[in-house]
Amino acid sequence: MATENKALITLFGATGDLAKRKLYTSLFKLYQKGYLADHFALLGTSRHEMSDEEFQEMVLDSIKDIPAKDGEAEEFSKHFFYCAHDVTKPEHYAKLRDRLAELDKQFGTEGNRLFYMSMAPQFFGTIAINIKKQGLLTDDGYNRLVIEKPFGRDFDSAKKLNDELSQTFEENQIFRIDHYLGKEMVQNIQALRFGNPVIEALWNNRYIDNIQVTLSEKLGVEERAGYYDHSGALRDMLQNHIMQVVAQLAMEEPVAFTDDDVRVEKIKALRSLRVYTPSQAAANFVRGQYGAEGSQPAYRNEDGVDPESGTETFVAAKLMFDNYRWSGVPFYVRTGKKLADKFTRIDVVFKKPLIDIFANPNSGNEQALHSNVLTIFVEPKSGFALQLNAKHVGQGYTTEPVDLKFLQSDSAKKESPEPYERLFHDALEGNHTNFASWAEIAYAWKFVDVIRNLWDIEKPQFPNYTPGSMGPAAASELLARDGRKWVYDLNK
Ligand SMILES: NC(=O)c1ccc[n+]([C@@H]2O[C@H](COP(=O)([O-])OP(=O)(O)OC[C@H]3O[C@@H](n4cnc5c(N)ncnc54)[C@H](OP(=O)(O)O)[C@@H]3O)[C@@H](O)[C@H]2O)c1
Repeated sequence: MATENKALITLFGATGDLAKRKLYTSLFKLYQKGYLADHFALLGTSRHEMSDEEFQEMVLDSIKDIPAKDGEAEEFSKHFFYCAHDVTKPEHYAKLRDRLAELDKQFGTEGNRLFYMSMAPQFFGTIAINIKKQGLLTDDGYNRLVIEKPFGRDFDSAKKLNDELSQTFEENQIFRIDHYLGKEMVQNIQALRFGNPVIEALWNNRYIDNIQVTLSEKLGVEERAGYYDHSGALRDMLQNHIMQVVAQLAMEEPVAFTDDDVRVEKIKALRSLRVYTPSQAAANFVRGQYGAEGSQPAYRNEDGVDPESGTETFVAAKLMFDNYRWSGVPFYVRTGKKLADKFTRIDVVFKKPLIDIFANPNSGNEQALHSNVLTIFVEPKSGFALQLNAKHVGQGYTTEPVDLKFLQSDSAKKESPEPYERLFHDALEGNHTNFASWAEIAYAWKFVDVIRNLWDIEKPQFPNYTPGSMGPAAASELLARDGRKWVYDLNK
């Protein structure tokens, strides 16, 4: 049974792409499920002049594809209001303050305010400072800030941003979005680990040989070229999404499943991540950039990209944790654009038995047993598979790998909320479990900055991978030199 959240949302960037594609649809689904009802309103802002009615039309247009009861969408849209506003002009905030006070009364939102920054990151600090200075905070209910990525470009800029936000909001009032944390199977990592002694008992360096995380994209940069060329795969994917997934895989069991307890453990895990020296980083990171394929342009020839760009569209790395649980176990991660397919998966590769009694060197069969592998399919399919060795059916005695598999049904997948719906819901409830804390972000930047600084001065040999592959050859060599290989590999 859904509990209604009473809240007044101020959305900065209300006419932007994210708002139209994800935020209004997520709020509508929360409304349909009863998490939002009579006592909520949203005040949208951007520089564009628009009436409340025009804004409501825009919201209706965004949600038009969601099946709804008669009149439901119209009723929902009546909770939306608009105020033209330039976030860089302090004098404009007075209008917002007055509208918020009116809406609070009109909708009985009990002083609960959620400020959502869905804008370019250079504005985040300014908005936060003005929210306080110009009196937009409430004394009655809660004040919360939801903030989009990216959170800084390196440790120093992230710290500066965090210091600016901290002038207005306490850490427990800040919800830093990482939409990977809203994905069903990323959330399932903890249920799988801590809900199953049969798995958690083996979740350490005695039994696990290595862990692999792959976030693979099939598309190129598309219309995000301008942004992406100044960011690259390391900042856009590894520093945030991959590090968050890795932290969940590496963390110890929390005392209880509360946001504070989970946070403590994720931070502890990231504290034990080995920060490389520059020469270690050079040896443990691989970068790549896609070339041309048929009529498809190389990255450097995409619209909006510098023709001599050294921006990486692929990154792979080997991460090591210096703690009792993970000592000696590499975490290999990779992500890139224009790869073979679009998917996210985690492969946990278990150690082979010390003695392979099924091997038969006389018949040329040096190794009969395969490594057990637990694969967590994050997307597009959701589920997991455990690869075990079993006897091959028939005469004689040979073994073969077989899968114990669970895949979410299509109907279950339909039921599953979209990441933004889930994260909006959690922010309204004040639950931080699926948001990144400042300490996690700080450790992730410190880890990433070493290689970024190196790559910024060394000119790469780009392009170095073909669209449709799984990245440059060096990404396979990263594992091959340790006597390992990627579980998902096109070259098997
Ligand atoms: N789009 C996505 O799929 C996506 C995915 C993940 C994260 N994000 C993050 O979400 C945030 C928003 O992205 P987006 O794609 O929605 O950006 P966008 O389409 O460029 O929208 C930016 C919004 O900010 C407003 N704006 C710009 N300058 C302003 C100013 N000085 N004062 C007031 N409003 C101003 C714009 O309206 P006016 O120009 O009319 O003022 C517009 O509403 C970014 O942090 C981005 O990194 C986006």
